[in-house]
Amino acid sequence: MMKRIELFALACIAALVASAQRASFDIIPLPKEVKTESAQLFTLTAGMGISYDEDNAECRRIAEFLKEWVGEATGMELQLTPGAKTSSIRLAIIAPVKKGKKASQPETATMIEQEKESYTLAINKKGILLSAYEPVGLFRAAETLRKSLPVVKESNGVELPFVTITDQPRFSYRGVLLDCGRHFFSVEFIKQFLDVMALHGCNQFHWHLTEDQGWRFEVKALPDLAKKGSIREKTVVGPSNMRIYDNIPYGGYYTQEECREVVRYAAERYINVVPEIDMPGHMQSALHVFPNLGCTGGPYPVAPHWGVMREVLCGGNPQTLEFLKTVFGELCDVFPSPYIHIGGDECPKERWKDCPKCQAKIKELNLTADNSIKVEGGDNRGSQDGRSAENKLQTYINHEIEQFLASRGRSLIGWDEILAGGLTEDAIVMSWRGTKGGVAAARQNHRVIMSPNVYAYIDHPQLKDYSKQPRTTDSYQVSCSKMYSFEPVVPEELTEEQQDCILGVQANLWTEQVAYPEHAFYQLLPRLASMSEVQWCKPEQKDFESFKARLPKLEKLYDKLGVVYCKQVE
Ligand code: ACM
Ligand code: ZN
Repeated sequence: MMKRIELFALACIAALVASAQRASFDIIPLPKEVKTESAQLFTLTAGMGISYDEDNAECRRIAEFLKEWVGEATGMELQLTPGAKTSSIRLAIIAPVKKGKKASQPETATMIEQEKESYTLAINKKGILLSAYEPVGLFRAAETLRKSLPVVKESNGVELPFVTITDQPRFSYRGVLLDCGRHFFSVEFIKQFLDVMALHGCNQFHWHLTEDQGWRFEVKALPDLAKKGSIREKTVVGPSNMRIYDNIPYGGYYTQEECREVVRYAAERYINVVPEIDMPGHMQSALHVFPNLGCTGGPYPVAPHWGVMREVLCGGNPQTLEFLKTVFGELCDVFPSPYIHIGGDECPKERWKDCPKCQAKIKELNLTADNSIKVEGGDNRGSQDGRSAENKLQTYINHEIEQFLASRGRSLIGWDEILAGGLTEDAIVMSWRGTKGGVAAARQNHRVIMSPNVYAYIDHPQLKDYSKQPRTTDSYQVSCSKMYSFEPVVPEELTEEQQDCILGVQANLWTEQVAYPEHAFYQLLPRLASMSEVQWCKPEQKDFESFKARLPKLEKLYDKLGVVYCKQVE
């Protein structure tokens, strides 16, 4: 039998565990404005209600998410109370009022993207009010509330200081790339990845679906493409140039049904899926299946090692364009994204220089080298020649695909090498070899996404001491602080109008060295937290020391979600 004093001690401990905890708005990304108007508190307790417009399915889903998140953080179960006027948590869609415009005008059509995502989170004696112009804004507000809650095992009440938070993202495009070509990741993992993206307020999942080392997208008209192109016979072990292989076949691809499921899951979290088919380089897996599409005729293995391959699609073979239109056609059927990524990076031209078909096409199109044009954006592997005839041939292919995509109502994104042969009319440039390509494109009034390798490549190590982390792409460190310090818009480089061309910023997770979900999350976190403040916050709001102080709270949520993250922040 327990003594009375022991029972009392146990009761005290239990009361401590379950007592009311305090919420804090020191979250990541930091909201634009947090006004605490008084020292008063609202106490949220189990059983309280969440109300929303019962005719709005999106609002219902957001209410369900919020219920789940409150339960996850605090153990408290709330109730869904659709339509109720006096619930403790209310989700409200409000009509936008635009300055200088008549209230009768349809505002939503003219609303800029960031405004659509804006929201207010107000807490007072009546409870917690989340309001926004669109459901996406309510979703962002719900995420903010989620991150403000204490993360505990159980709670019998959370005290929330009276506050008015108003928020809006700085950029409309807030992306993360996952390379599923070098290594294949399951749909289940991708869903977890999307959950983590949503937690950080990201809204574009750039899905890199094809690589020299594996074709991952089912094309129904070309069934062998994924069946055979997805499998490499072996994979290099250790440094690629050592050519030591594991001799184990490796493969996997996504059916169109699975891709649609990813699109659906992402859309529920207000994430658009930007699919990438990387061409005309990085195509060796397709060449393996269709060797006639290469300049030499092959044979070509699905690449078993990493690097830039000289075997690329033949630019002079009319079947190349036919093939691409079939692939991009089915891609458009599956992915509703307004943006389709065509790759365009690292396409060596040595085969094209020697290929009779490529040279005949160059002649037919009357493409001539124009080496007096200095291609801004720097250069490396593959397009060293400035505006060579071969680079112009790549632009010709891009133009054909741009027209094709435009007929489906989509815009083309390409890596910054697409500058080399001249940009096609509507091309959006994703600047990866630093920011120069992006700046050059913005100066030509093209839309730009900044993803410079030295700040945004999360396949690189995050710690200075490489021995303290899993093997990664080495050569340089992209620490949390380095990523945090990235400023994508430099006013000295661009006029105000050109600055508006910068749609946003993206972090890229290439997976040559990343074969497992745990490792992928380790590379991603907590650097995605750094990236989220680059994507959401104005420069004057950013402060790395403040960020570091806010990070442990977010890490508690990582723990709850069961995702691996790097515990050291440099
Ligand atoms: C790239 O990293 N090759 C876009
Ligand atoms: Zn050729």
